Amino acid sequence: MKGEIEAMTQSGQPTYLIMLGAPGAGKGTQARLIEESLGIPQVATGDLFRYNLSKETELGLLAKSYMEKGVLVPDDVTVRMVEDRLSRPDCAAGAILDGFPRNLDQAAALDELLAKYNQKVSRAIYIRVEREDLIARLTGRRVCKSCQAAFHVIFNPPATEGVCDQCDGELYQRADDSRDTVEKRLEVYFEQTAPLIEFYKDKGVLVEIDGGLPIDQVQDEIIRAIREN
Ligand code: AP5
Repeated sequence: MKGEIEAMTQSGQPTYLIMLGAPGAGKGTQARLIEESLGIPQVATGDLFRYNLSKETELGLLAKSYMEKGVLVPDDVTVRMVEDRLSRPDCAAGAILDGFPRNLDQAAALDELLAKYNQKVSRAIYIRVEREDLIARLTGRRVCKSCQAAFHVIFNPPATEGVCDQCDGELYQRADDSRDTVEKRLEVYFEQTAPLIEFYKDKGVLVEIDGGLPIDQVQDEIIRAIREN
């Protein structure tokens, strides 16, 4: 599978893939599955905020108040964090952006940032999932404290309850996966992030994937789409 899609990154041009979709659509799950094949890292803004929070940095403490409410962290803070992350050596060949951009202003900021290096968004992978399924996925999600891998108590259970299959880390339930905060996150998504679907469609880089399929089939569909588009 690696050989099938790495050609995309062999053009000499960096590849910037955007994982687009509602909270719980499977953006993080899929980004992790394809990063090795593509040879570019997953850059997940939510994970970066949570990492900063675990280290109690100024950025983490600022983000905490927004994340707890299920609303977006201010754009200037988020864009600066992404710019810093993309400037690191491991992103020289590009990145899989997971959770960014999340509104039209962030999308414009990303275009501006990439334009400085004569680059642009290669593809936006929109993972489409029904609202009811999103709620079930988020409220049953368990995440590894060490490596951030996501599991689900029913749809994707770990081999041993409470233990990460990949690194033996401890699994926990994210504070923002409570029913009330999930409702708020979905509201914010439909209001502020969903308009990006048209935005990237107009640019001709949008690929739509049926995210209601089982995880391995979604992965196959994404790889097929990257290869064929
Ligand atoms: P973030 O961490 O980005 O959360 P999110 O976008 O709400 O996305 P999730 O991580 O919840 O879902 P996912 O699509 O990655 O799903 P997953 O693969 O885990 O953001 C959190 C907060 O940070 C925001 O609310 C905001 O405050 C702040 N923030 C982040 N980015 C920001 C930005 N750019 N600007 C401003 N603020 C920002 O899968 C979910 C579950 O479903 C798992 O249990 C998984 O096992 C299961 N699953 C996955 N695929 C399938 C499948 N095909 N079938 C069945 N189950 C599946």
